[in-house]
Amino acid sequence: MTKIDVLLGLQWGDEGKGKIVDVLTPGYDVIARFQGGPNAGHTLEFNGMKHVLHIIPSGIFHKDKINLIGNGVLIEPAIFRQEIEELSAKGVDATRNLYISKKAHLILPTHRMMDAANEQARGSAVGDRKGANVPSWGAKIGSTLKGIGPAYTDKIARNGIRVGDILAADFADRYRQLKNQHVLMATAMGFDVSVFRIGELTLDQYEEQWMQSLDCLKRFRFVNSEYFINQCLRDDKKVLAEGAQAMMLDIDFGTYPFVTSSNTITAGVCTGLGVAPSTIGKVMGITKAYCTRVGAGPFPTQLDDETGRLLCELGHEYGATTGRPRRCGWIDLPALRYACMINGVTDLFVTKPDVMNDFDTVKMCTSYCIDGRHTDEIPYEYNTADVRPELTAFEGWKQSLAGITSYNALPERLKAFLAEIEQQTGVRIAAVSISPDRKDVLFKCVNA
Ligand code: GDP
Ligand code: IMO
Ligand code: MG
Repeated sequence: MTKIDVLLGLQWGDEGKGKIVDVLTPGYDVIARFQGGPNAGHTLEFNGMKHVLHIIPSGIFHKDKINLIGNGVLIEPAIFRQEIEELSAKGVDATRNLYISKKAHLILPTHRMMDAANEQARGSAVGDRKGANVPSWGAKIGSTLKGIGPAYTDKIARNGIRVGDILAADFADRYRQLKNQHVLMATAMGFDVSVFRIGELTLDQYEEQWMQSLDCLKRFRFVNSEYFINQCLRDDKKVLAEGAQAMMLDIDFGTYPFVTSSNTITAGVCTGLGVAPSTIGKVMGITKAYCTRVGAGPFPTQLDDETGRLLCELGHEYGATTGRPRRCGWIDLPALRYACMINGVTDLFVTKPDVMNDFDTVKMCTSYCIDGRHTDEIPYEYNTADVRPELTAFEGWKQSLAGITSYNALPERLKAFLAEIEQQTGVRIAAVSISPDRKDVLFKCVNA
């Protein structure tokens, strides 16, 4: 019996999960998403082409690998169909190797409406300040508005509709009932349903598209994925669980309420796929060499200056799902240590040091000062306290990383920066990524 390996984000998302999963896929038989939904945007680049995936696992470009959408994931059929059509236009027929759990929940058009209604109902306080005095309440979350919060709410409230229900005789009734409930709730909240739009479409127009998209979904193999995955492990097949969002957006341990609505952490693999904790193998955690956040919430190392602007421009830090500019700052070691602790990270992957190639100085936050006190921990008052990063400066490596093909050949100053990350987290770096392209991942020898 093999164990299931996990790859997940250790910051606030967009660390490069899609790219690394794509690179690791040849070593696995099955790639499985276990949580999240179309709020994710995972970018893959190879052969001069860029691909962005939202619901479909990042192993899909490898024809001989099975990709599984697990029970913990949310599926929005119209977005799913669009993704399938985009893949098809690139010559990828996902019907052959994409399986879907019957227990995955559906995002209805009115879940997306409820997302907008909830955001509207929140106050107008600014939630994206650097780290001090972010109000916990009264500020908008900065949701991707894909219906994630409301769909998980219905799942937990036992009102949700699952993929397997699409085939049930009473599907239309159940859909109508849930939709009506959402319309009543939105109206009671003072939300004007008649002016709500998804893109250019009214709710009715979008609903028509959504209903038609169910036919696309039905072309896929619906499975009891918990049996499927456990059988794979018994058959010594290698399974990789692909995280979406990231540690600091976890519903329990992230910067609540500025989080997503699922367990993004290793524990989420067990509930999102139906595997026992004892089956978890390697936990690969991914971090950028700096830090970004899109949406509201605290971010102590955020740089509101020229350096922050440079990180955004040179790193092309614009959301893969919403196109919003990402907030940028230095890498945050207290947050990274917390992430390694909660997730049991065994291997670190570091991406995007190349973005800082021209920097004279590169910094790292190693602890915080909160109201005059020094701490290494993420405090409960993370949102509201005046959390100041204590920074250590490193001399920049001031050279291009293009063409470097081995970890050892990286500039010594970059290796010193990476060694400090290992030292500070107590976790070994397995590999460093130095460009968006599939080929630019440098694995570190075990003894290096
Ligand atoms: P994910 O959500 O974690 O899969 O990450 P995203 O795809 O949202 O964002 C990561 C962005 O960084 C994408 O545009 C990637 O193409 C790009 N990227 C990934 N690794 C590297 C790297 O090592 N260097 C650079 N410059 N870009 C990278
Ligand atoms: P990937 O998988 C970055 C953020 C949103 C918002 C908060 C809640 O690409 O790393 P939601 O739509 O879940 O209600 O939004 O979480 N968020 C992400 N930020 N990367 C993501 O996914 C994200 N998914 C959600 O910006 O602040
Ligand atoms: Mg992303």
